[in-house]
Amino acid sequence: MTSYALLILPSANRVYAEAATALSQSELHVFNQSVLEGRLSEVSATVIGGVPYVTFTADGELGTRDAALLANLSSIYALFQIEGGLLRPVGLHRLDRFDDDLITIPKYQGKTNEQFTKLLLNVTLLASAFAGDFLDRKFAVIDPLCGRGTTLSQALMYGFDAAGVDLDQKDFEAYSAFIQTWLKRKRIKHHAEQGPVRRDRQVVGRRLQISLAAAKDDYKAGLTQRLDVLNGDTTRALEFFRPGTFDLVVADAPYGVQHGSRTAAKGLARSPLDLLAGAAPVWAGLLRSGGACGIAWNTLVARREAAAAILAGAGLDVIDSPGYLAFRHRVDQAILRDILVARKP
Ligand SMILES: C[S@@+](CC[C@H](N)C(=O)[O-])C[C@H]1O[C@@H](n2cnc3c(N)ncnc32)[C@H](O)[C@@H]1O
Repeated sequence: MTSYALLILPSANRVYAEAATALSQSELHVFNQSVLEGRLSEVSATVIGGVPYVTFTADGELGTRDAALLANLSSIYALFQIEGGLLRPVGLHRLDRFDDDLITIPKYQGKTNEQFTKLLLNVTLLASAFAGDFLDRKFAVIDPLCGRGTTLSQALMYGFDAAGVDLDQKDFEAYSAFIQTWLKRKRIKHHAEQGPVRRDRQVVGRRLQISLAAAKDDYKAGLTQRLDVLNGDTTRALEFFRPGTFDLVVADAPYGVQHGSRTAAKGLARSPLDLLAGAAPVWAGLLRSGGACGIAWNTLVARREAAAAILAGAGLDVIDSPGYLAFRHRVDQAILRDILVARKP
């Protein structure tokens, strides 16, 4: 048995307040069950030298691949092996392809916190049948309520293909302007196309499609990542994206505080359940078999059981293993956020 101490990013305490350590432990549990063959145990909160850590033991030493996986934990700052009371650093090499200002520059009301977005993407990926390929596969991710693109940028950061849908025209325009300026400023090779999307001679949305590569040679060789963003209604996503082509659907539903959920039938609502009921079959249709859908929402406006029943009704298997039941946390007085993950059989 080898002992380890994980130092949490200082910003996690600001984002999650007193829940930061507990959420890190839950995420670590999910990594452990999904891709580390359950070799970690005794996961707990420990204070070392007056500083809080998450400590755990591993069956044998963590190998290079284990460390490469754990490097992508959403709130990891540093990892140490504990040897005779001393901390020996473990090298962390994240998947990150680009500078992190891709994710940190955009600041706006309604932004899903970037650390939380990474947590949601990670635990959704780890529930998919392709979790073992975390470090190797170019996952295809869609955020069907993408706002100004936090999930899309995180997916690009990982080297994945990213697609998004949002009804809000201002959000679409803001992300489109940001990402194109950012790609130019960073001199990242890309090709962008933007324009209206028509059905039966009517404009039903607008779309931005970009192919890009972190390295010039990859771009020349056609080893590109795709970004595809649609300004339209999420319940119509199957009109624009081919069914069964996404590995992951990742969405942060409107919290019903400053922003509501919009459906054609009922307009704006506090609870996301009507939107979810209309969208879940579409989102399930976008997924390939073995793919996973992860949603975050405010439990003060919709109960977990109700949201889970909607995902199950769309033919998805809701994951209820212990790690996945321990992500509920307080964001502010009006928001008690939770995560629900389901897999397509
Ligand atoms: C919590 S926000 C997502 C924020 C996003 N993760 C970000 O960081 O920018 C939820 C989004 O759902 C969108 N939305 C609500 N109803 C929708 C619908 N029927 N179709 C598409 N988008 C919708 C809202 O416009 C809003 O941007």
